[in-house]
Amino acid sequence: MALRAKVLGTGRAVGPTQLTNEDLTRIVDTTDEWIVSRTGIRNRFIARPEDGVCTSDLCAEAARKALAAAGLEASQLDLILVGTVTGDCKFPSTATFTQAKIGASNAAAMDISAACSGFVYGLELANALIQSGVKRHVLLIGAEVLTTMVDWEDRGTCVLFGDAAGAVVLGPSDDDTGVLSTYTKSDGNLADLLWAPGCGSLRRLSPQSLENKDHLIHMKGRHVYVHAVRCMADATQQAMDLAGLQPADVDLLVPHQANIRIIEATCERFGFPMEKTMVNVDRYGNTSAASIPIALDEAVELGRITKGQVALLTVFGGGFTWAAAAVRL
Ligand SMILES: CC(C)(COP(=O)(O)OP(=O)(O)OC[C@H]1O[C@@H](n2cnc3c(N)ncnc32)[C@H](O)[C@@H]1OP(=O)(O)O)[C@@H](O)C(=O)NCCC(=O)NCCS
Repeated sequence: MALRAKVLGTGRAVGPTQLTNEDLTRIVDTTDEWIVSRTGIRNRFIARPEDGVCTSDLCAEAARKALAAAGLEASQLDLILVGTVTGDCKFPSTATFTQAKIGASNAAAMDISAACSGFVYGLELANALIQSGVKRHVLLIGAEVLTTMVDWEDRGTCVLFGDAAGAVVLGPSDDDTGVLSTYTKSDGNLADLLWAPGCGSLRRLSPQSLENKDHLIHMKGRHVYVHAVRCMADATQQAMDLAGLQPADVDLLVPHQANIRIIEATCERFGFPMEKTMVNVDRYGNTSAASIPIALDEAVELGRITKGQVALLTVFGGGFTWAAAAVRL
């Protein structure tokens, strides 16, 4: 039995096509100034239909990098978890396609549906499975090709999102490194503030549902904003309490990269200085479940967080779902 799961390696991949705010001004009635001042986003990377890149391609690229960083072979993985709401197809899971692409022949594979919170929800599951000895090496990925669900005529949403995958390889820890706490929560009463209601059993695919754009993202931005700040603050506090940490014990806050103003409001509430906060929303936009793991990977790459230091991950997303985790690298 391990004390907890620890991060053995991280990796990331982004969509092959860059989309700047300037590019968006040619698609919808918007300006660089509006997008930057309301969201902090300047750029994102997307997978266009003509790029021929699907979610599991991004997963496989991020996974190979994470495995290399961990010094493990794909055959040593026992489980692949992919947090996503924009997988390759309805079934089977994107995790199984990823498994085939990387040759993880000894692993089980499944997806987690918790919108933007999918990666942190997955971290809680992976930690429990590794702690209990049920699994040893888990590949955990957050991945989205959200642009498959973007309404390119809705300027309130199409400027926000990007496509990416972030991966971590987790294994057992018997020292003080690893997952110190996890906290997960949801409130299904608020589902229709941020959702894509079409193409399932609720609103079946039909000419009418296509005309209504039921298959695309519908969001009440103002309401989502208010709940996001409240829920991320709640999750952050809970994860610190469960780990017995004070804000000063946290070396790097890695918040969900939806909007710079949500990040700043969360930091302000806990007195985390922005120097101790990872921000890359300006370059990637909101990549949903991929947001936290790509920020974590970039933080590791940049030396913003090093071995033995504590990262606090905090996220909010559709459902609503929210979650946080404290992790000593
Ligand atoms: C989306 C968001 C940036 C919009 O900002 P806002 O200040 O709430 O803006 P509103 O939606 O109230 O719209 C205000 C005005 O800006 C306009 N507007 C919306 N998008 C615009 C754009 N891209 N460019 C220019 N104007 C835009 C609206 O049409 C509206 O104009 P009106 O007053 O003439 O009707 C903000 O609500 C937000 O960040 N919400 C959280 C979204 C989020 O993070 N979702 C994911 C969570 S995981």
